[in-house]
Amino acid sequence: MKLLLLGSGGREHALAWKIAQSPKIEKLYIAPGNAGTRETGENVSIKADDFAAIKQFVTEKGIDMVVVGPEDPLVKGVYDYFKNDEALKDIPVIGPSKAGAVLEGSKEFAKGFMQRHQIPTARYKSITAANLDEGMAFLETLSAPYVLKADGLCAGKGVLILPTLEEAKKELKEMLDGMFGNASATVVIEEFLSGIECSVFVLTDGRSYKILPEAKDYKRIGEGDKGLNTGGMGSVSPVPFADAEWMKKVEDRIIRPTVEGLAAEGIDYKGFIFFGLINVKGDPMVIEYNVRMGDPETESVMLRIKSDLVDLLEGVAEGNLEQKTLEIDPRSAVCVMLVSGGYPETYEKGFPISGIEDARKGGSIVFHAGTAVKDGQTVTSGGRVIAVSSYGANKEEALAQSFQNAGKIRFEKKYFRSDIGFDL
Ligand code: AMP
Ligand code: GLY
Repeated sequence: MKLLLLGSGGREHALAWKIAQSPKIEKLYIAPGNAGTRETGENVSIKADDFAAIKQFVTEKGIDMVVVGPEDPLVKGVYDYFKNDEALKDIPVIGPSKAGAVLEGSKEFAKGFMQRHQIPTARYKSITAANLDEGMAFLETLSAPYVLKADGLCAGKGVLILPTLEEAKKELKEMLDGMFGNASATVVIEEFLSGIECSVFVLTDGRSYKILPEAKDYKRIGEGDKGLNTGGMGSVSPVPFADAEWMKKVEDRIIRPTVEGLAAEGIDYKGFIFFGLINVKGDPMVIEYNVRMGDPETESVMLRIKSDLVDLLEGVAEGNLEQKTLEIDPRSAVCVMLVSGGYPETYEKGFPISGIEDARKGGSIVFHAGTAVKDGQTVTSGGRVIAVSSYGANKEEALAQSFQNAGKIRFEKKYFRSDIGFDL
């Protein structure tokens, strides 16, 4: 089959790496891809949300399946665009409909959905300028710290956690006044939950589902989880506390009610669901839904899927996922992200990268995140630059290998966290 993968980050390189291993793949295209995805297929210079250009390409090349990496095209309705187009309607898009993508596109919708289906999540209230008084009153009923979430997509920046009531009240007003533009015209105020987070992923055809390996990601820039939030500095799979007993709670209380809830509400959903969970004294609760795979979780999760991913994706497209098998590698897999010095604030780009082959010879699987090719040389082109992923009999072994190989990759102002997995 000819498959088109949309996106350009580390997640997409990991997906492309796994997809390209399938004997079913005759040709893999990545739009737009990065310097690493070229090793797995052919990059095409089309933006992941340029639907008209995607249509032209898909028709011209006879693409059989489209897999969507990031949330943006999904929230903008790429699934519906295909469904409603005479020439494209029979080409499966792996990813939810626009109505399903709202689970990530609107925090207010996600909270309402969880409430309707009795899925455990933090107590909340949804506030606009019209009921600001209620928001202030609700804040008074909570205890510190205070969680404020912009309703809409803010490139991962729309959540504020405030230590005092005064700051929470002040920030609530500023958010409603347009701190994140229209995305914070509605703000979800939430009770703070304390516990360790875990990302759980499923692939669903809308009826049945397969639970993929879970992972934990590390969002803060500094060691010991200090400093600013980033797109993710590393990941570890499996997560020790996500044992069979805990995962049974996740499946019974969260996964099944979500998949059944989507079907009950008539929402077309054939793709990945990412459950951002928190373990509150042994009970899983939902922090957020995403409608795609996680980044950098994918850079460890893909290593642990032994089955042919394309076969599973066909099951999603054809609605017979329950007949497919998902075999998981019992080993640990981890990813350590190399980033540009200065990230997540300002940083320079365009530095030459060397040592990738040495890291691979050292046993790691190297995925590109923010890279580009300039005059035949691979250079840095983003905050998160390279993901160094490794297997191990346990997470310590896998991490030791990733840290060692992370040292072999060189570019100016390289930084990485050498404490990934420290809290597990
Ligand atoms: P989100 O964008 O919803 O993933 O939120 C970003 C981060 O904020 C999460 O990964 C959590 O670390 C934190 N967070 C969000 N909601 C809560 C909550 N109710 N309690 C504690 N931490 C939270
Ligand atoms: N790793 C978190 C995310 O992809 O949103």
